[in-house]
Amino acid sequence: MAGLGTRRFDAPQRKATMTRLFSPLTLRSVTFKNRAWVSPMCQYSARDGVVGSWHLVHLGSFATGGAGLVMAEATAVNAVGRISIACPGLWNDEQVDAWRTITDFIHAQGTVAGIQLAHAGRKASTMRPWDDHVMASPAEGGWEAEAPSAVAFEGYPVPRALRVEEIDALVEDFAAAAERARRAGFDVLEVHAAHGYLVHQFLSPLSNLRDDEYGGSLENRARFLLRVVRAVRTQVGEATPIFVRVSASDYTPGGWDLAQSVELASMLRDAGVDLVDVSSGGNVASATIPLGPGYQVPFAREIRQETGIATAAVGLITDATQAEEILNDGASDAVLLARAFLRNPRWALAAAEDLGEYIEWPAQLERARTLRRP
Ligand SMILES: Cc1cc2nc3c(=O)[nH]c(=O)nc-3n(C[C@H](O)[C@H](O)[C@H](O)COP(=O)(O)O)c2cc1C
Repeated sequence: MAGLGTRRFDAPQRKATMTRLFSPLTLRSVTFKNRAWVSPMCQYSARDGVVGSWHLVHLGSFATGGAGLVMAEATAVNAVGRISIACPGLWNDEQVDAWRTITDFIHAQGTVAGIQLAHAGRKASTMRPWDDHVMASPAEGGWEAEAPSAVAFEGYPVPRALRVEEIDALVEDFAAAAERARRAGFDVLEVHAAHGYLVHQFLSPLSNLRDDEYGGSLENRARFLLRVVRAVRTQVGEATPIFVRVSASDYTPGGWDLAQSVELASMLRDAGVDLVDVSSGGNVASATIPLGPGYQVPFAREIRQETGIATAAVGLITDATQAEEILNDGASDAVLLARAFLRNPRWALAAAEDLGEYIEWPAQLERARTLRRP
C-alpha cells in the first residue's frame, strides 16, 4: 500500500545477522524464541485474586510485541500472600480459568508464558500504589501480615511470626499454586525470592531472627526456599523450567549480599533450578541503591560465572545494543525489561529492527515494518 510515510521501503537492505538477543534459548522442554523477556510487573488490577481484561491486554501486548517470554506479575500462593488487596492469586480454580485465557493468547503469538509465584510476608495487605494511603484496613479487605520474625518493614505494621507448622503449610501452598499454574497453561514458573517479600525475609539476617532450623546459618535461612523449590519441582515434573528471582544485595551491613547469593545459587542449581533472575534491594526501605544503566548486571555476571547456572539480568536495561552487549559479555543468558516494555510493549520488535535482525512479526502488524526482508 503506497503513501504510508512511516514505511521505509527505500531503507538499505541489511544482512540478517543472528544476534544473541534474537537467538533462541532452550531450558528443559521449553524453547524461547529470543532472549528479550518481559519482567514481572504488578498491576494491582485483580478482583479477589482473579485477573481480568486489563491483564489480557497488558500481557498480550508484550506477546504481540515480540517478547520471547512474558512473565506475569507476583501472584500470591494464598490470600494473605498478596502484596495488595488487588493482586492476583493462584489459590483457587476460578483464578486458574482466568489465567488460562491469557496464556492461550500468549501462546498463539509463539511466546512462552511464565508466572511469578509469590508471598508478600511482612509487606502484605496494602492498598494500590495510587490510593491515598498505604495499608489496607480490615474494612477495606486488609489482613494481619505474617513473616519469619516479628520484625516490621520500615513504615509497616509488625507482622506475626510464623510457626513451624505454618511454614510447612506454606510450602504446600507454593506446590499447589505451581500445579494450578501448569493447569492455567504457564510454561515457566518463577519463585519470587527477592524485593523483601517472604522468601527474601527468610534469607536475610535483617528480617530473619529465628533460632530454629529456619534461622541462623545460611543453610537454615535458605531452607524455606529450597523446600519450596523441591515441592514445586515435584508438582510440575522434569519438563518445566523453574526460575528463582533473588535480590543479590540488601545494600546494608549485616544483611543479604552477593557472596551469600552466589552460595545460594549453587544450592539452587543443585536443587534443579534452571535460571536465577538477578535483581536487588527491597528488604531495607532506607538502603541506598546505586541506580544506573544495567546496575544489577554485575551481580548476574558473578552468579553465572561462579556457579555455572543460567542467569537473567534485569534493571535499567533499555536499549537493544545495551541488551546485546550484556549477553555477549557473558553476564546473562537473557535480559528482562520492565519499564521499557511498559513504555513500548512492542519493544522487542523495535529492538530487532535496531539490530538489523529480520524476525517474524505478527501478520497483523507486518505493514509497520521498517526493515526489509534480507
Ligand atoms: C509497575 C511495576 C511493577 C513491578 N512488579 C514486580 C513484580 O510483580 N515482581 C517483581 O519481581 N518485580 C516487579 N517489578 C520490578 C521489575 O520486574 C524490574 O525488576 C524493575 O522494574 C527493574 O527493571 P526495569 O529497569 O527494566 O524497569 C515491578 C516494576 C514495575 C515498574
